[in-house]
Amino acid sequence: MTRPLCRAASLADGTARGFVFGAGSTRQAVFVLRHAGEIRAYRNACPHRGTPLEIMPDAFFDAECRFLVCRTHGAQFRPADGFCVAGPCAGRSLTPAPVRVENGVLVLDEVG
Ligand code: FES
Repeated sequence: MTRPLCRAASLADGTARGFVFGAGSTRQAVFVLRHAGEIRAYRNACPHRGTPLEIMPDAFFDAECRFLVCRTHGAQFRPADGFCVAGPCAGRSLTPAPVRVENGVLVLDEVG
């Protein structure tokens, strides 16, 4: 099963957008981002405590758009691969989510 997320062109470089599907045991939270021209997606769960990264909607990047930030305890992740470079889960990584562009639309391939 796939889920359309948003138009790829609507995701500006240095921005990210969060999505939540389902509820309870079927709940899925992901976010997509564009950084240095590349589109990526990750599960919206910090490796430290498993909580969502953002507090304010779609606020995943730091002020300089260099790192993704977990707002709970400040972990910093590289946008390109989700690797945590600083914070309580340094050395661990965000879990990639399978997204692709289909007819100009970002589509999530649901797994599990
Ligand atoms: S929950 Fe993300 S750094 Fe603690």
